[in-house]
Amino acid sequence: MTAEQTLAIIKPDAVAKNLIGAILAHLEADGFVVREMRMLRLTTERARDFYAVHAERPFFDSLVGFMTGGACVPMVLERDDAVAGLRQSIGATDPDEAEEGTIRRLYAESVERNAIHASDSPNNATREIEFFFGA
Ligand code: RTP
Ligand code: MG
Repeated sequence: MTAEQTLAIIKPDAVAKNLIGAILAHLEADGFVVREMRMLRLTTERARDFYAVHAERPFFDSLVGFMTGGACVPMVLERDDAVAGLRQSIGATDPDEAEEGTIRRLYAESVERNAIHASDSPNNATREIEFFFGA
């Protein structure tokens, strides 16, 4: 397996609770190397664009409100099998369904305020890395 890159975002709930360091430590312990990282606050337009795949879902406006409600920390992570591996490390969307020891199980508050985002496919990882770190 060769090194692969994926995109993670430490979401505003976790940033507000001072969990950036704990989550980074967890990711590094799982073998991910941080290649790029920023702290920023998404505008409504950018958040709607990032989560456009969910535009018709009932939770979309609430999700956009949450993601624009404070600073977040997008980052590019590299590891063998990074895309699938990061989804494993973060756990299920709903923390009550996430496996013990996963980031969401440890740090998420709810199905919406769930601490971290991870790209769900190699194609989306490419798009999402470009979204935050493209020229
Ligand atoms: P993400 O895209 O943030 O990594 O999360 P995911 O793949 O595990 O979940 P996805 O289905 O893509 O949903 C994106 C984000 O929308 C919020 N959500 N709220 N209220 C709800 O039922 C609900 N469902 C999803 C969460 O913040 C979720 O991570
Ligand atoms: Mg998703």
